[in-house]
Order: sequence, then structure tokens, then C-alpha cells
Amino acid sequence: MSAEIIDGRKVAELVRASVREDVDQWVAKGNRAPFLQVVLVGDDPASIVYTGTKTKACKDVGIDTNTLVLQDTISAKELKGIIKDFNQDDSVDGILVQSPLPSHIPLYDVIETIDFRKDVDGFHPMNVGRLSVDQPCFRSCTPAGVMELFKHYSIPVKSKHAVVVGASNIVGSPMAVMLSRENSSGKATTTICHKYTRDLTQHTINADILVVAAGQPHLIKAEMVKEGVVVIDVGINRVADETSEKGYRLVGDVDFESVRKKASWITPVPGGVGPMTVAMLMKNTLLAAKKSLYPE
Ligand code: GUN
Repeated sequence: MSAEIIDGRKVAELVRASVREDVDQWVAKGNRAPFLQVVLVGDDPASIVYTGTKTKACKDVGIDTNTLVLQDTISAKELKGIIKDFNQDDSVDGILVQSPLPSHIPLYDVIETIDFRKDVDGFHPMNVGRLSVDQPCFRSCTPAGVMELFKHYSIPVKSKHAVVVGASNIVGSPMAVMLSRENSSGKATTTICHKYTRDLTQHTINADILVVAAGQPHLIKAEMVKEGVVVIDVGINRVADETSEKGYRLVGDVDFESVRKKASWITPVPGGVGPMTVAMLMKNTLLAAKKSLYPE
């Protein structure tokens, strides 16, 4: 068997095109364009790239955006004060604080300061909690993007055995909730593995759907999966590569070349899950502007 490739770039473009159309209609009705406020603290190179990608995507679909860049010496109190001002500002629909934050600022103090109705990342405990009780909420963009890929390719999830490797707040944990619950097209029997899991293969080998978000290059090898598995690789790891101009290349958490021979479907890295994250952020920002999830 050789797996069919899940084309995240293509599906992300379809999602963005649909958001673009909805934004046009929203504005044509006399509303102002949706507005996303991005907050970037410090000068972490990866965060600069990520926020740049997000704001470019916003412009592409007609969402207005601004990035407030703050010095990494800012205090938690000052940062929270700034966020409270954005909460009060009716011209701001979505607020995104790029993580990581400098180590002196507790991330969840900041996330909990964001009005959950503007939390387009879906990180606020109100949104996380509502996800886990099947209520309308902002859903974390990466796992929501994975669910969108299943939908697009009509990959069945219900009653399958899904195994998630990685239990982060942003990806693994909400991914497992979406896969298992009723309201996110889930209904899968779901296992969460993490760094404390004793024998990873014992779990991955039984997966009908395997989502890997562990941040370890080539963690998953062919002998760890069963024939016909659907593999979603959320990993984005830089590995040194002297043949590349940049001196590195991006690889996932899955040994793509060997695993693709056994899988029925697989996402590549890059071009798999990555583009979906940004597309789902656009979708969430539109939902925030329309107050679709939390009507007044
Ligand atoms: N840092 C890494 N991923 C993300 C994300 O999806 N949102 C935010 N705000 N920060 C991140």
C-alpha cells in the first residue's frame, strides 16, 4: 500500500476562500471588516515568522489586523492592562497573544485575561471547558484544522480507534477531546499518549487514526503502525541539512518515507497540518466578528 497524501495547502486554501467570501458578504451588509489584534512580546525569531504568516493570511481574506510588538521586559501587569483595553475596545474582534512569552510572565494569567469571546486561539479555560462539554466555543486552531481535513477527505472518525501522541494544551489535549466527543465530528475511541507512556508502540500499533504532536523528529516508524492507518503529523522540526540553502529542512514527527508505505492516508511536512492552523484562525476571527458563538 502507498498512502494517499492529505494536501493541507489545498484544503487550507478552500477554507480561506470560503472565509473570504463570508467576509465580503459581511462587509457588503454594512459591517466593518473583522479585526484581529496580535500581540507579540519580545523578538523570538519563530514567533516573528508565525505572526507574520498570520497577519498576511488575514489581509488575504479581508480581515484587518494589527500587531503590537512589546519589549520582553514588559511586566505581566502591564501586559494584562493592555489586553484589558483590547477587551473593552469594540473595534477589536479577536485577540491573539503569540506564545511563548518571556519566562517572567505566566502564560495562563495572560490567556485568562483575554475576554473568552475574543479568544480566537481557543486557549482560554472557558473555551477549553466548553469544548469538553460539547458547547459552542472557539476551538484551538491546529486540532480544529485536523478535524477539517478528516471532513474534507471524508475520512471516517466515528467508532475508530484514534491515538494521539502528545498532550499539549494547544494540540494534543484538545485534539483528543475533539476526536472523542460528540459535537466535533468525533465519536472515536481515543487514547492519549505522552512522554510518560511506557510502551508507545503498544498503543500506536492499534491506531486506526494516529495523530502525532510530540515535537520529536521521526518518532513514529513503520514498525509502530498497522497497515491502513490514517497518519496526521503535526510535528514541525528543523533538522540540519547542509544541502539546503537555509542549512536546515523541516521534518515531522513521523518517518514519512517508511510510514507512507503502510498508511492509507498521511499528511506531509511541510504542506500538511501547518497551513490548516492559519486557515482555522481566519475562520475563528470571522466567527468572533459575527459573534456567532457568543451572541450578545
Ligand atoms: N505559539 C505556537 N503556536 C501558537 C498558536 O497557535 N497560537 C499562539 N498564540 N501562539 C502559539
